[in-house]
Amino acid sequence: VAARVIAIDGPAAAGKGTLARRLAHELGFRHLDTGMIYRAAARLLLAAGGDPDDGAAAERAARAMRIEDLGRADLRQETVGQAASRIAALEPVRAALLDFQRAFGRMQPGAVLDGRDIGTVVFPDAQAKLFVTASPEARARRRQEELRARGLASIFADVLEEMRQRDRRDRERAVAPLRPASDALLLDTTDMSADEVFAAALAYVNARL
Ligand code: C5P
Repeated sequence: VAARVIAIDGPAAAGKGTLARRLAHELGFRHLDTGMIYRAAARLLLAAGGDPDDGAAAERAARAMRIEDLGRADLRQETVGQAASRIAALEPVRAALLDFQRAFGRMQPGAVLDGRDIGTVVFPDAQAKLFVTASPEARARRRQEELRARGLASIFADVLEEMRQRDRRDRERAVAPLRPASDALLLDTTDMSADEVFAAALAYVNARL
């Protein structure tokens, strides 16, 4: 049997990670947060003293990325996130990370992948596709909560501005820009609790698998 794939895309801090984990747990599927592979590649590049706009160095870092690199705590740092979104605009970097994602999606009995282009590029044939959004202010508030939970103080205006910058770069890039697949279920989570998002997504997914 072909493995089943659930594709979840959307901007940062819209709630797609939480949703992806809960769906995977509920269905007994594997879960891959694909932002972490871009972050792991960016971290390797920064650690080697490379420049995120140096395409050849960024491609080498993407090819050197291994599954063991995904567990590192420092991948969540904002400097790594910003570098990740810069190298993610480069076609050879995206191409280098494609096989890894597609191999993951073949895992039995199924896989949930969350990112920016899962439903549009990585798995255009996914059985279920969700596009999760929320207002920039709601997403900045959630990101601030995450930071607080890790003991990090932050300034709302700074978090909001960093989020807008990253959104703009992800939406306006030429390769694999952030956008909903034409057949994705759109979920605006601005005024929804995590439980409501999960219930809506599960009903949709169950109807499609
Ligand atoms: O989701 P996260 O903030 O961890 O992603 C970091 C960056 O990686 C994003 O800003 C985006 O540029 C890039 N990314 C991507 N495609 C994906 C996942 C992440 O371009 N599927």
